[in-house]
Amino acid sequence: MQKVLDYLKKNEARFVADLCEYVRFPSVSAQPQHSKDLRNCADWLVKRCRKVGLTTELCPTDGNPVIIANTPRDQTSASRSYLAAKPRYLIYGHYDVQPAEPFQLWKTPPFEPRRQGRSLFARGASDNKGQHLAHLNAVEAYLKTGTDLPCDLAFLIEGEEEVGSANLTTFLSRNRERLKCDGIVISDTGIIGPKHPTLTHALRGICAIEVKLYGPSRDLHSGIFGGTVENPAMALCQLLGQLRDKNGRVKIPGFYDQVVPLSSENRKQLARHPFNETHYKKFLGVPKLFGERGFSPVEQRSARPTLEINGLTSGYQGDGSKTIIPAWASAKLTMRLVPNQTPRQISKLVREYLRKICPPTVRIEIQEGHGGEPYFVAPDGAQAQAGLRALKSAFGCDPVLMREGGSIPIVNDFKKILGVDTLLLGLALPDDNAHSPNEKFDLGIFAKGMKMSAHLWQELGRIAACPKPQQ
Ligand code: BES
Ligand code: ZN
Repeated sequence: MQKVLDYLKKNEARFVADLCEYVRFPSVSAQPQHSKDLRNCADWLVKRCRKVGLTTELCPTDGNPVIIANTPRDQTSASRSYLAAKPRYLIYGHYDVQPAEPFQLWKTPPFEPRRQGRSLFARGASDNKGQHLAHLNAVEAYLKTGTDLPCDLAFLIEGEEEVGSANLTTFLSRNRERLKCDGIVISDTGIIGPKHPTLTHALRGICAIEVKLYGPSRDLHSGIFGGTVENPAMALCQLLGQLRDKNGRVKIPGFYDQVVPLSSENRKQLARHPFNETHYKKFLGVPKLFGERGFSPVEQRSARPTLEINGLTSGYQGDGSKTIIPAWASAKLTMRLVPNQTPRQISKLVREYLRKICPPTVRIEIQEGHGGEPYFVAPDGAQAQAGLRALKSAFGCDPVLMREGGSIPIVNDFKKILGVDTLLLGLALPDDNAHSPNEKFDLGIFAKGMKMSAHLWQELGRIAACPKPQQ
């Protein structure tokens, strides 16, 4: 193990240089003009995995390709034939990134990495390129130092996570045999801080829809026609205004029906999280917090469902003014879900309600978007405990358990299709600006993440070697 850790230390500068190369690809999955960049980015990753010594394949899908890269199973298996086979883990990550807009808010261009102190600024640095590279580097350290890896590992890196992983589900079903494993490891969630390494055991689900209201057949002069026709932008605002009340409760009938209430034990655990309201407010730049009444901010952002407007578009948005009644108005909405809400059920409720309250003066069109169920796994299993030990060894302090508000929809498919749980060992700091301008990755956390990964395979190998208790 010491050889592995020494290798990681010695190669740190090169690992940072590699990450700089990787984030230069504008692999924005939401924008069709970047499809070639996604392909180039995937090709880069294939080369990188092959250099590490992994058996790597670029697998086509109906969307962006998926990369599968396996550790060699050969040399050790012969000498270990007297032992049970090694456990096998899949390390999941995504090479696609969120759009970088608005560009003018970036201090330096989003796809030109900039190092400042211990931070590396670039879109995708933290979400998620830096995080899965940390694992790749740890595996490289094992292979290049000839150290026995206690687990067989396969990287599964996709290019459509930020748009809902629609093609990965089919890919998992079709490749079930070759993806058989004992568990999934993902670093694509948050870490509270270097003194609070974090194991996430729950994620919120998600349900996305887009609603568009059509008014007149073209933009109209608001003086000549204003007063006689509905303004779709106004109608949309009124519609959206009816979705949530001033206490932060979603007003759609049935929205909370399936929600499993937080137990007092849940609430006790969440109350243990380090949280300072003044710092939080200042950090986010808001004059006052807002959330569902009766719940703490930690509960509101991780264990309660929400409805948010992600984008709102209508009319003229250029310089100066243009006096029109716009022909249409649209909004992109997402709902975050908690156990036992499902995207299908919530999407239906929201669509029915919108249609019901839509005035007859406009025509409504609703498009269903991506969806994913919430994820929850009790943190007392052997794999979670191994994860906690690996975090402690790498960071030198006791880890924290967390429920996260973000979503990684594919974790439920891992459970349903491959039958395994996911260990979520995130490395993104709260101020890493994921999905925001000036995203960054902390290089200190990057180095600790590699160490954590190195320890993790030891810990997971160890639990596999222990006989399972008789049922
Ligand atoms: N890395 C995030 C997920 C995340 C971040 C989970 C922080 C927990 C804490 C991931 O890349 C992401 O952004 N997922 C999307 C999913 C969606 C587009 C289907 C999300 O949560 O918005
Ligand atoms: Zn993301």
